[in-house]
Amino acid sequence: MVSLDQLPLRPELRGRTPYGAPQVPATYRLNTNENPHPLPVELLADLGAALGHAALELNRYPDRDAVALRADLAHYLSRTSGEAVEPAQVWAANGSNEILQQVLQAFGGAGRRALGFTPSYSMHPIISAGTGTGWVDGHRRADFTIDVDAAVAQVRELRPDVVFVTSPNNPTGTAVALETITAIHDATEGVVVVDEAYAEFARAGTPSALTLLPGRPRLIVSRTMSKAFGMAGLRLGYLAADAAVVDALQLVRLPYHLGSLTQAAARAAPAHTDALLATVDAVKAERDRIVEALPQLGLTSVPSDANFVLFGHVADAGKAWQALLDRGVLVRDVGLPGWLRVTAGTAEETDAFLTALSEIAADHRTTLGESDA
Ligand SMILES: Cc1ncc(COP(=O)(O)O)c(C=O)c1O
Repeated sequence: MVSLDQLPLRPELRGRTPYGAPQVPATYRLNTNENPHPLPVELLADLGAALGHAALELNRYPDRDAVALRADLAHYLSRTSGEAVEPAQVWAANGSNEILQQVLQAFGGAGRRALGFTPSYSMHPIISAGTGTGWVDGHRRADFTIDVDAAVAQVRELRPDVVFVTSPNNPTGTAVALETITAIHDATEGVVVVDEAYAEFARAGTPSALTLLPGRPRLIVSRTMSKAFGMAGLRLGYLAADAAVVDALQLVRLPYHLGSLTQAAARAAPAHTDALLATVDAVKAERDRIVEALPQLGLTSVPSDANFVLFGHVADAGKAWQALLDRGVLVRDVGLPGWLRVTAGTAEETDAFLTALSEIAADHRTTLGESDA
């Protein structure tokens, strides 16, 4: 095998590393924000039947526009957000990563720029690079919140074609106020993508940006079945926006991008939304248990509306990560000095994490700021 340098690779991809959490064997894998609860048995039965039925037609291409699935997803969004979302406003793809890629293919690309407020989801700059879109890091305050005036000023100055706002934000966990989103939207002529991969885990009273869609044709809200729905293996993401955005994405999507088995499996889920979302409440309770236990260990966390908690302050995140792994608990070192991210899952996982953390906390914690020195 030759090295990458010997290939005529696009210059902007040279020297880059691919996305990916280390796939380390561990008893408790709390590093990729999956939902650990198995799918409800009734759903599994429907899923098997739906896949069997779809398999009978595998000699045919799938529904290119996933019409029935989009209607199901529109119904789910309308029911849970209180905002009427029409099927024509919904688009689906292989994970929200593919949704984001299609958005960048349509609205970014060569000579165009995307802006995101880092630290945030690391795939936003990576997909930007893959689509030839320039990337600019936006600013956050030291507490990881977005300073709306600074954000608006930056948007006005840079005039990005695509702005990403992750809410709840990954890896910090906190939802972004709707006023911040509207201010950013009003400051740009580009599209604003609100990445709501974790929306279902938000604390009570946190409205979705879906409520902002009417009258804002440049606003896009992306969602996924990978987190709250516990179907990360399915690869199904979707968005809601003005129907014109859906038309735009059809210019760049590959024909038949969403296989018929994927569409059939995804369509089995909405009928079981209540059972699926019951696990969300259980996960939120574990998240809150982690947040409440941290101060007793001399640690702190960032307010979380997601199924994970960013905790610190540790003197050396790499060493604390290893010490937890030595005790069978795999968390995520997201590259923020002094902080680590843990996924909230089952009660057993929380117990294991807190036990391991209590064993190592005294050796690893530090007061805020010390580890930055
Ligand atoms: C903020 C955010 N957006 C999008 C995704 C991608 O999700 P998927 O492609 O599985 O739908 C993730 C995955 O971790 C995420 O954290």
